[in-house]
Amino acid sequence: MKAAVYTVYGSPKVIQIQEVDKPTPQPHEVLINIRASSITRADTMMRQGTPKFGRFFVGLFKPKNPALGTGFSGIVEAVGNQVTKFKIGDAVFGEKLFSNGTNAQYICVNQEGIIVSKPDHLSHEQAAPICDGFLTSYSFLKDIAKLQSGQHILVNGASGSLGTAAVQLAKYMGARVTGVCSAKNGTLVKSLGADKVIDYKETDFTTGGTRYDVVYDTVGKSSYKACKNIISDNGVFVTPVLSFETLRYSLFKPKQVKFSATGIRKQHVLKALLTELVPLFKQEKLQTVIDRTYRLEQLVEAHHYLETGRKVGNIVISQS
Ligand SMILES: NC(=O)c1ccc[n+]([C@@H]2O[C@H](COP(=O)([O-])OP(=O)(O)OC[C@H]3O[C@@H](n4cnc5c(N)ncnc54)[C@H](OP(=O)(O)O)[C@@H]3O)[C@@H](O)[C@H]2O)c1
Repeated sequence: MKAAVYTVYGSPKVIQIQEVDKPTPQPHEVLINIRASSITRADTMMRQGTPKFGRFFVGLFKPKNPALGTGFSGIVEAVGNQVTKFKIGDAVFGEKLFSNGTNAQYICVNQEGIIVSKPDHLSHEQAAPICDGFLTSYSFLKDIAKLQSGQHILVNGASGSLGTAAVQLAKYMGARVTGVCSAKNGTLVKSLGADKVIDYKETDFTTGGTRYDVVYDTVGKSSYKACKNIISDNGVFVTPVLSFETLRYSLFKPKQVKFSATGIRKQHVLKALLTELVPLFKQEKLQTVIDRTYRLEQLVEAHHYLETGRKVGNIVISQS
């Protein structure tokens, strides 16, 4: 089968599409014929080996795991002899954490892992990126920020993968939503449910008089220090992007500043969150925003585009 492989850290050109052995499912695993997979900012960090301290975990001098890709959507093609939750022919989607090889034709996933049935009306391309933007932002809004109905949230980076998901989720959770994005993405962010949109190139949102219960800086372009005057007394600044400043504040002001890495939360917690999201997709309350779709053979090109930092929503690798 074909799979994306990288054996050294570096620019997108280190990625090769190679012929590798098709995996065989273990007793509790399903073999999935991948129809679409995600390509995310986490993949670029794995490929580059950044931040450098992360190499203690993923390989000091070269990647321990040469595979790429986390999100997947596809069809179960074979099942291990202990599998009870899925059967051959099921359409499923989910995530294999830490770039575990979904940019490929096949993967094996444990039935207890982050894998659920795909709603019929969603295409594989729409389902594959759900665990990046939606699962991360749901984890942040529900568990980290504990967003409540009636609260006011500001989503910085409202046009990214996490941002487009956060705007929709926050609206669904009953919050008042202000989205920060550039003018070219304002119409999209409003259409996703934002009550108000601020163009970050025109207006510094940290200087307005409005105070927010939650500031969710999805892109790590702001900081608690910059935002502290716009956060209400019991409010919170949350971000999925770790900086030295965020780390320092989250240690000294843990109630006001919170960072979380969704990937290191327990699998059963993430699976439970994903299971809560599925009915919202079925009811068409949530929609995946897709910017560009590439073929597996175009993964290098896709990584180059990802690195521009300009993508709107998600990028998908399609094998349909
Ligand atoms: N901790 C975790 O568990 C976790 C999980 C997933 C992702 N992440 C991290 O989350 C971050 C966001 O990822 P993403 O995929 O959603 O988005 P992204 O690809 O990092 O950002 C793309 C969007 O950001 C907008 N943008 C760029 N500069 C901006 C600014 N100064 N203010 C507001 N918006 C700006 C761009 O719009 P314009 O072109 O209009 O500027 C574009 O639509 C990444 O750093 C990723 O590594 C963390």
